[in-house]
Amino acid sequence: MEVFNQIEPIQEYLQTQRFKHRSIGLVPTMGALHKGHVSLLNACKRDNDISVCSIFVNPTQFNNQEDLAAYPRQWEQDLAILEQEGCDAVFLPEENEMYRDNPRIRLNFGELEEVMEGKFRPGHFNGVGLVVSKLFHILSPDRAYFGQKDLQQFAIIRQLVTDMSFQVDLMCEPIIREEDGLAMSSRNTRLNPQERQTATALYAALKRGASAVLEGKNLDEIRRDNMQWLEDHGIVPEYFEIVDAETLTPLMNHFERKSVALCVAGNVGPVRLIDNILIEKE
Ligand code: PAJ
Repeated sequence: MEVFNQIEPIQEYLQTQRFKHRSIGLVPTMGALHKGHVSLLNACKRDNDISVCSIFVNPTQFNNQEDLAAYPRQWEQDLAILEQEGCDAVFLPEENEMYRDNPRIRLNFGELEEVMEGKFRPGHFNGVGLVVSKLFHILSPDRAYFGQKDLQQFAIIRQLVTDMSFQVDLMCEPIIREEDGLAMSSRNTRLNPQERQTATALYAALKRGASAVLEGKNLDEIRRDNMQWLEDHGIVPEYFEIVDAETLTPLMNHFERKSVALCVAGNVGPVRLIDNILIEKE
């Protein structure tokens, strides 16, 4: 496995691969790798000749400086995992390699970022859009792999690719969960044992909400009921939303749409977690 900290050497490496007509897949991450990331890498290896993983804790997407400082960083362990899983190349840049200057450009994704993560983390998707654009420009992958875990992020990146005409195929892979249902996340390592137990309520709420939607209950009541239920189970909820799975617009009662996403965000002690579930409603 080749590890690159700088832009030019990895570009030369990828150029050599392209001359050999090898397809290139990219898995962008912020490190602290877990089985969710590994599932993206496996999908990437399945579809491409060369699999590249990037590891970069992107400062511009953190609206909370404490969250940025507390974000787990464990490069050696990450590189060992990637090596073992058969990754071909890793892009692990320093901050000044990605941001030579304070970026002035601002990306605005309109109504896509007016709900959920966009609403509760102002500036977050500007930072995600910016760093993903940089990675696409630098690495020019044929395909890029993202997780359904960050459903709104995927919708944002899909819009970015359309609006900017990036020549890349986007892939969205299913959520990998712990045995008790908690969605895997780099932030889970920050939970103490009691918080770790409490965190299972997020997925439990999504499942209750999904059953209620399928039973045809009033959507606003489901939203309210689950916000309360999360609070009763030790979580400080930020939102419990029921949205169109494609456009992410909040659904009203008597909606036509068949693909529905239930999305939740909440704080468990000092850690903010998100999760979602997709359902088909006739
Ligand atoms: P990060 O949180 O490290 O996640 C990297 C990728 O792994 C994302 O596409 C995310 O959706 C996916 N992922 C995380 N947990 C997962 C799980 N339990 N199952 C399946 N996939 C999972 O998302 C980011 O980094 C950043 O915003 C990034 C796109 C790298 C831009 O900085």
